[in-house]
Amino acid sequence: MSTALILLAAGQGTRMKSDRPKVLHAVAGAPLLAHALQAGRALSPERTVVVTGHGGESVAAAAHAAAPGVRIAVQEERKGTAHAVAQAAPLLAGYEGDAIVLYGDTPFIRPETLKAMRAARATHDIVVLGFEAADPGRYGRLVMAGDSLERIVEFKDADAETRALTFCNSGVVAAPAPLLFELIDQVGNDNASGEYYLTDIVGLARGRGLSATAVACDEAETLGVNSRADLAAAEAAFQARARGAAMAAGVTLVAPETVHFAFDTEVARDTVIDPNVVFGPGVRIAQGARIRAFSHLEGCQVGPGAVIGPYARLRPGTELAADTHVGNFVEIKKSRVEAGAKINHLSYLGDASVGARSNIGAGTITCNYDGVSKHRTEVGADVFIGSSTMLVAPVTLGDAAMTGSGSVITQDVEPGALAIARARQVNKPGMARKLFDLLKSRKKNSHGKAE
Ligand code: UD1
Ligand code: CA
Repeated sequence: MSTALILLAAGQGTRMKSDRPKVLHAVAGAPLLAHALQAGRALSPERTVVVTGHGGESVAAAAHAAAPGVRIAVQEERKGTAHAVAQAAPLLAGYEGDAIVLYGDTPFIRPETLKAMRAARATHDIVVLGFEAADPGRYGRLVMAGDSLERIVEFKDADAETRALTFCNSGVVAAPAPLLFELIDQVGNDNASGEYYLTDIVGLARGRGLSATAVACDEAETLGVNSRADLAAAEAAFQARARGAAMAAGVTLVAPETVHFAFDTEVARDTVIDPNVVFGPGVRIAQGARIRAFSHLEGCQVGPGAVIGPYARLRPGTELAADTHVGNFVEIKKSRVEAGAKINHLSYLGDASVGARSNIGAGTITCNYDGVSKHRTEVGADVFIGSSTMLVAPVTLGDAAMTGSGSVITQDVEPGALAIARARQVNKPGMARKLFDLLKSRKKNSHGKAE
C-alpha cells in the first residue's frame, strides 16, 4: 500500500518563549521536524507534505533539507488540527493511497509503530495511534468498544467519566487519503475550543458505518515538545537511547551518561569512548578507535584503530585514516590525514592533506586563511614537521621532507629536502649579565624618583 505523510508543523509553540518556530528547536543536533520526518521515512512515503504556518519559510527550508522532495502547504490561520490537515488536500489531489498524519513536534515515534498502524489498516478504515498515559492530563481520550475505536473526545469537551479514561490520543492517524479529506470536510468547530478537530473524523466515520481502531505504543514515543523543559527531556530520552544502542552494538562507553551523541552518529564495534566526549552531526567512527576524554567531533570520519584526544577537536570535513593519532589541543578542519600519521600536540590543521606516517610536531599551524581566501597545505608521506612550524598556505611539502622547528614555511619544499626558515641564532658572551645590571639600576632610579 502506498503512503503519503502529512506532517503538521504550523504550531507557534508559545510556551517555548522563542522567536524560532517550535519544530526548528533541535534534539541531538537536528530539528524536531527532521526527527519526525525520519520516523516517517520507514514507510517509504510516496509523497510528503509539511504543513507550515508561523515562521513558514525557515520551517520549509528545514523540511527540504531533512527530506528532499517534500511539498509545503501553508496554513495561514491556525484553526485546529483538521484545518491544518485540510491544507494538504490540494497537494494530494487524486492521490488514492493512505495518508498518515504526524506532528512535527513529536520526534520519537518508532518506525515499527508506524508499520503496525499500516498493518492495522488492512482491517480498519481509520487507525489511530494511542497510548496508556501515566498522567492522561489534557490529552484527547480514546473511547473504545472492544477493539473498535468509537470516538475521540478532547479533554476540554469530556465529561468526568470520559476524563477517567487513560487510553489517550497521540495525534497520529492513518486513513485512505480520499476518505480522510472527505471526513475533514464535514468536521465543524462547535466545541469548547472553537477549533476544527482532526479527532472528530473518528466519530464521523463510525456514524457512517466505517470501522476504526487504535494501535497502542509506548508513552515515551509520543513525547511532544511544548516547552524548554520538554526539549531537555526529549534530549535526555534521545541520549539514553543512543548510548544504549551504541553499547548494544559493541562500543565501550566508560561513562555513558557523559557522552553526547548526534542524531546520525555512527560508531563501529570495539571503539572505546572515554568520559565527556561530544559528537556533533555527521560523525562516523570505524572499528577499534579510541576517543579519549573531552574531545569534540563533528562532520568527520575516523579510521580504524585511530586514537583521538584527550581534548581534541575534529571539525567538518576531517578524514582520518587508519591508526592515525590526534592528541591534546589539536584542531583539524577540512583535512585528510593518511594512515599512521601523528599530530599529537597543540596544532591546527585546516584545508590540508597529510601523507601516511608523517609526524606533525607540537605547535604546528597551517596558516590557511589570508583574511580573504582559504588556501591548501599539502604534506606528503613520511614527512617530519618540526615543532612550531608555520605552514603558510598555499604550500606543498614533498614526501620525506623535513622542516626545522620554528620555521615559517612560505615556499614549497621538494621531496627529501630539509627546510629551515628562521633567523640564525647569535650568542653574545657576558651580554646577559650586563643587561640585567642595566635593568636593575633603572628600576632602582625610578623608585627613588617616585618617593
Ligand atoms: C492534539 C489532539 C489530542 C491529542 C494531542 C496529542 C486534536 C483536536 N487534539 O491536541 O487529541 O491527545 O494532540 O498531543 O487534534 N497544529 C497545526 N495547526 C493547527 C493546530 C495544530 O499545525 O491549527 C499542529 C501543532 O503544531 C501540533 C499538532 O498540530 O504539532 C497538535 O496541535 P496541538 O494544538 O498541540 O493539539 P493538542 O491540543 O495538544
Ligand atoms: Ca500538543
